[in-house]
Amino acid sequence: MTAQDFIPESYNSNIKKDTVKWESPSNIALVKYWGKREHQIPENPSLSFTLSNCKTITEVTFTKKESKDFSFDVYFEGKQNEAFKPKIQTFFERIENYVPFLRDYHFKIETSNTFPHSSGIASSASGMSALALCLMSIEQKLNNIDALNTAEKSFEEESYFNKKASFLARLGSGSASRSIEGELVVWGENESVEKSSDLYGIKFEGKVHSNFKNYQDTILLVDKGEKQVSSTIGHNLMYDHPFAKERFNQAHNNLKILTEVLASGDTETFIKIVESEALTLHAMMMTSMPYFILMKPNTLQIINKIWSYREKSGSNLCFTLDAGANVHLLYPESETDSVLKFIKEELVTFCENRQYICDHIGLGANQL
Ligand code: PMV
Repeated sequence: MTAQDFIPESYNSNIKKDTVKWESPSNIALVKYWGKREHQIPENPSLSFTLSNCKTITEVTFTKKESKDFSFDVYFEGKQNEAFKPKIQTFFERIENYVPFLRDYHFKIETSNTFPHSSGIASSASGMSALALCLMSIEQKLNNIDALNTAEKSFEEESYFNKKASFLARLGSGSASRSIEGELVVWGENESVEKSSDLYGIKFEGKVHSNFKNYQDTILLVDKGEKQVSSTIGHNLMYDHPFAKERFNQAHNNLKILTEVLASGDTETFIKIVESEALTLHAMMMTSMPYFILMKPNTLQIINKIWSYREKSGSNLCFTLDAGANVHLLYPESETDSVLKFIKEELVTFCENRQYICDHIGLGANQL
């Protein structure tokens, strides 16, 4: 498929006012996306677990209007929010060719997150995917297709819907392209995953061993403040990065290894690849020019504690990091009790206000 395939011919329905609503989860990358080309095309493929509890709920009310400019209001947790508007304006500008109805309606966008706003958890993946899905539902209504009537919805229609939702979400925030479906999503063309694309994320259809079913992700909130360097700036620093080429090759290779590991259930190699990916992401930040560090002293304390816990207990617990100081603890469901005990006894002390969020692999977004 090419981007052209997502440009609609015309709409056959004239709606004056209606509402759509979606909830969409966050995701955590096992192979990291860091570095992009124009139009949010990733420099390397990434693979993520879709989350379940950490999500954004977005309702969009669209009302026909005469003027041809973009018109929208944003409400975050019930209050009008001006701070989100520039990002949505840019998003609308990037996607208007693919959803030309954007200029025909006024949009009231009401959104909220299930996780605390200032928790250091990026809401761009869940937020942008929820909004993209709302726009797709509007498009379906304008095409007279009832999205809820799944019995009659053909596989092709559903597959097109998900691909285009992911395609739009990608133009809002790269990692948002991986939040439409679950349980594992691959975004970025690569040899090991058939039908993978730079344009959108696809559900990972390869074999997944029972060891990785319902994997847990407990997010330790180490630093809830705004991060000092945005991911947009970070991605851009990969342009002239001395290790960029090697890093992009490594991600392709790690993705290949992980697809084999997911099938075989080899948790030992899973841990090695996932932790290496997390540290490599941060190593890229530390070796860019200008360089920066998003980990905090407590991030390192937690990592060291995890390594000694694993050594002592033989546990399969491992960590990964996003572009921030928080630590995601990944572990099999069978270890839930022992890991939670370890967290309470040894790790909460490194969390801001002793806060952490329990999540696990999820199935993707839902229409409400
Ligand atoms: O989606 P963006 O542009 O905010 O990039 C985020 C990239 C990481 O979260 C650091 C890694 C990833 O693959 O999710």
